[in-house]
Amino acid sequence: MIQVEGLTKRYARHVAVNNISFAVEKGDIVGFLGPNGAGKTTTMRVLTCFMPPTEGRATVAGFDVFDQPHEVKKRIGYLPEAPPLYPEMSVEDYLTFVARLKNVPAGEIKQRTGQVMERCAVADVRSKLIAKLSKGYRQRVGLAQAIIHNPDVLILDEPTSGLDPKQINETRELIKSLAGEHTIILSTHILPEVEAVCQKVIIINKGRLVATDSVENLKDRASVGSAIQVQVDTDGQADAVTVHQRLEQVPGVSKVLDRTAHGNRFVFEVESLQGRNARPDVARAVVHAGWNLLELKSSTLSLEEVFLELTGSQPAAALAPVSGVAQ
Ligand SMILES: Nc1ncnc2c1ncn2[C@@H]1O[C@H](COP(=O)(O)OP(=O)(O)O)[C@@H](O)[C@H]1O
Ligand SMILES: [Mg+2]
Repeated sequence: MIQVEGLTKRYARHVAVNNISFAVEKGDIVGFLGPNGAGKTTTMRVLTCFMPPTEGRATVAGFDVFDQPHEVKKRIGYLPEAPPLYPEMSVEDYLTFVARLKNVPAGEIKQRTGQVMERCAVADVRSKLIAKLSKGYRQRVGLAQAIIHNPDVLILDEPTSGLDPKQINETRELIKSLAGEHTIILSTHILPEVEAVCQKVIIINKGRLVATDSVENLKDRASVGSAIQVQVDTDGQADAVTVHQRLEQVPGVSKVLDRTAHGNRFVFEVESLQGRNARPDVARAVVHAGWNLLELKSSTLSLEEVFLELTGSQPAAALAPVSGVAQ
């Protein structure tokens, strides 16, 4: 549905977006994740035909954002960081106005406006002035204007920023409920947002693409080579030092750390060598020694840790090199 190839955007000499490529399939709900200044808004502005790219190209439903902006705009609903609301208009008048702007046929405007107000839960304030609305309501009016012409694609720039926790939840639920009907890209610098709403994630940092994958894969991938937690009950047959030494001898184990000890129960953190998964061998070693293996769990990295590894000062090489991570 969306194809971005070698997209670069320069402001004067500053490169805001640097040669990024990605694709979004129909029906996807994709999180566009990156710290402030990463280039998220810039990319979205190019996709929504607000600015031409400096290099590269982008297409929406096969139409080029530069050569065929009318076709693209018909198919895109855009919620910018600051929604283009008119505070002195009522909700219904404003949506009627936007519907006209977006060429909704005159005979359908009333019905369509009613539908999107229901859909975005703003029907109860239809006659209120936008200036009088809470931020949560205003954001939902922003979403209503984005979907008024029933576009295939929704592009939402930081849709929950500035909202309180309850409004954030309501907005996320609304976005998820729109997912069936629209392909959605939403930008955020908040990780839990991606986990809460999206199936896929595109991570950018300093204008460059860092990774593009499903949220699940990204987390799985980062857990390779990370620590596992082992809880052993020796029934008095061995002390912590003995168990520690035995674990250190397991093939694929690089390091063993003592965590807690309660009587005969010991908890260790065991690190695997890069690219190795020592779990099966650790389990065998414990059982073979005649001890009880009470727990064996991988302490997988949270999406937050993955993100820091991918975008932070630590080299991304800390992650096992795998296909799918952008170069
Ligand atoms: N109109 C502009 N003129 C010059 N530089 C800009 C302009 N807009 C954004 N930038 C710069 O481009 C980079 C990317 O900005 P932006 O796309 O807004 O990032 P994000 O939305 O991820 O926070 C930043 O370094 C920002 O300062
Ligand atoms: Mg931005």
